[in-house]
Amino acid sequence: MKIDIISVVPALLESPFAHSIMKRAKDKGLLEVNCINLRDHTTYARAQVDDYQFGGGAGMVMMIEPLVNAIESLQKDTRYDEVIFLTPDGETFNQQMANQLSLNKNLLLICGHYKGIDQRLRDHFITKEISIGDYVLSGGELAAAVLVDAIGRLLPGVLNDETSALTDSFQDNLLAPPVYTRPVEFRTWKVPDILLSGNHARIEEWRHEQAIKHTEERRPNLLSKEE
Ligand code: ADE
Repeated sequence: MKIDIISVVPALLESPFAHSIMKRAKDKGLLEVNCINLRDHTTYARAQVDDYQFGGGAGMVMMIEPLVNAIESLQKDTRYDEVIFLTPDGETFNQQMANQLSLNKNLLLICGHYKGIDQRLRDHFITKEISIGDYVLSGGELAAAVLVDAIGRLLPGVLNDETSALTDSFQDNLLAPPVYTRPVEFRTWKVPDILLSGNHARIEEWRHEQAIKHTEERRPNLLSKEE
């Protein structure tokens, strides 16, 4: 999969994909992430990409021209399955959306800044608007990094069996059960006996019960969601 990201602060996107699982995905050739500096696509003086909003009001707005220049220059080489704008008023991101997006070949992410982007870009170029939660970040870059990470780890071959995405929280509308590792006893706190029993069928049953209990306690709304 290829994910291109248009940003005014591409440096913010250097580290998130340079380590751990995202690095492995890139090294294995399963995920390509390219960051495009919006300022390289403006024809305005001093690399300007934003301007005052018509009608007055606080906050600058990202201009349509540099964004369209950037998008159309990328589209010369790539047919994007989705052009996604990261914005707090978008659809709230969740695991189902990550699963769905991971099936695509090429994605283009656009990071907003300032007061937002000119509405005409949203009307004519953007195919999906996504928020990572009900809070406002200072730009879309961290949200883009969240999307790339959540999507990238689902690509076949990125995770090994031990870290299989199928047992993650949310994959079946359940939160993951508790996990333990050595030592068997720390201070007076013991690992549940069942996990040491070697009885895999009973262990799976216990994990499922724990997942339901954990979900009932923390996120009961997930239990009423359709599978
Ligand atoms: N840009 C600013 N805040 C955001 C959010 N919560 N989600 C996605 N993009 C954003």
